[in-house]
Amino acid sequence: MRVVEAPTWLCGYRYNGVLVGRMSKNKVNYKNIEFYVLGDYSYSFLKKLADMVQQGVRINPADFRDQVVYIAAKLNSNLRLNELLKDIQQEICTIVNAQAASILMYESDHLRFLVTVGKASGKIESIPVPMESIAGKIFLEGRALVFNDLETNPVHFKGVDKAAKFKTENIVGSPIWVEDQKIGVIEVLNKDGGFTQEDAEIVELFAKLIGRKLLSTWRYEKFSESFKKILLAIATAIDKRDNYTHQHSKNVARISVEIGRRMGLNQQELEKLEFSAILHDVGKIGIPDSILLKPGKLTDEEYRIIKNHTVYGAEILSQVKYVDQAILSGALEHHERLDGSGYPNGKKGEEISLFGRIIGIADVYDALSSKRTYKEAWDYSEVLKIIESDVEKGKFSMDIFEKLIETVKELSEN
Ligand SMILES: [Fe+2]
Repeated sequence: MRVVEAPTWLCGYRYNGVLVGRMSKNKVNYKNIEFYVLGDYSYSFLKKLADMVQQGVRINPADFRDQVVYIAAKLNSNLRLNELLKDIQQEICTIVNAQAASILMYESDHLRFLVTVGKASGKIESIPVPMESIAGKIFLEGRALVFNDLETNPVHFKGVDKAAKFKTENIVGSPIWVEDQKIGVIEVLNKDGGFTQEDAEIVELFAKLIGRKLLSTWRYEKFSESFKKILLAIATAIDKRDNYTHQHSKNVARISVEIGRRMGLNQQELEKLEFSAILHDVGKIGIPDSILLKPGKLTDEEYRIIKNHTVYGAEILSQVKYVDQAILSGALEHHERLDGSGYPNGKKGEEISLFGRIIGIADVYDALSSKRTYKEAWDYSEVLKIIESDVEKGKFSMDIFEKLIETVKELSEN
């Protein structure tokens, strides 16, 4: 029996009835990297890949195998869309030795760039690419195609090259598939000497591998963007009750995220922190205008009522399925202070959540540095001095205060 030197282990592929790889239902272990194959479709793709090698298709198995493992592992880690696209582009360019790659998604009667690399990046996402283009032809034919004759090919849509100041010399592209549905096109651009049929086969296989993850990440990103816009609209509506606090929630979110980034929070935590900061005062919706907008000093009773906005905020947010304890804690605890002098529960030190501590200091900074009914806007160095004295009194932590200083200095320079 000949055991093929191919990535057969990826799918638990059997050769002559002998299992040459390990696989539980969806989980694969290779070189101590554990990853999940992307469902049945990818399973069949991997089998096809193994078959290709077995049939003598010229692929450098060692190189290609490592690329596949690497990409599969990455695809299954928690990536943002931009990171995923960048990885996809870099990997496919390395595999087929090309200069650049683009990914386009299908939108009813045209294709639209998700991302491109090089000089084109960021410039052409708004250009709809007609179906009478090379990308359109690849999509409509439903198979990988090579175009080494772009100079003379009338189908080549030059609008993109012009906008991106990029000269496409040759292209290999493939539809991106999820099961039997085409969702877009991947185009790989510019290879010295032109692309071969072998390149086309590799790009086609690659496009099958990335489809499912690309679609789910893209949908999540779109959902997340829309969700954020809704949250911002709610926060702005609340801020607008008082003209002077306009933009407050947005400012607090921006400062909080910058502090969080400097404290080493990961992307997912930063997203949660941003949501939490945008909505930290959502509970003010339950405070009467006569108290919330009162220009003069509050009575003890009025102050007691206004303090409730933290509890109301947490109650409101607890109704939202997406909101977890960390997000909720920002609304509930942003008026707590390390020395126990804050509200609503007089929590001390690390009893106060990280989000509560970060948003708390960002909230004070923005309130002091903005114009209010009862005061003018203060200069940032003056505001930092006031907060520093609170740090000395033990109300805020020195660590977070230092990150605040770095943040406001950078923001004031931009
Ligand atoms: Fe508040």
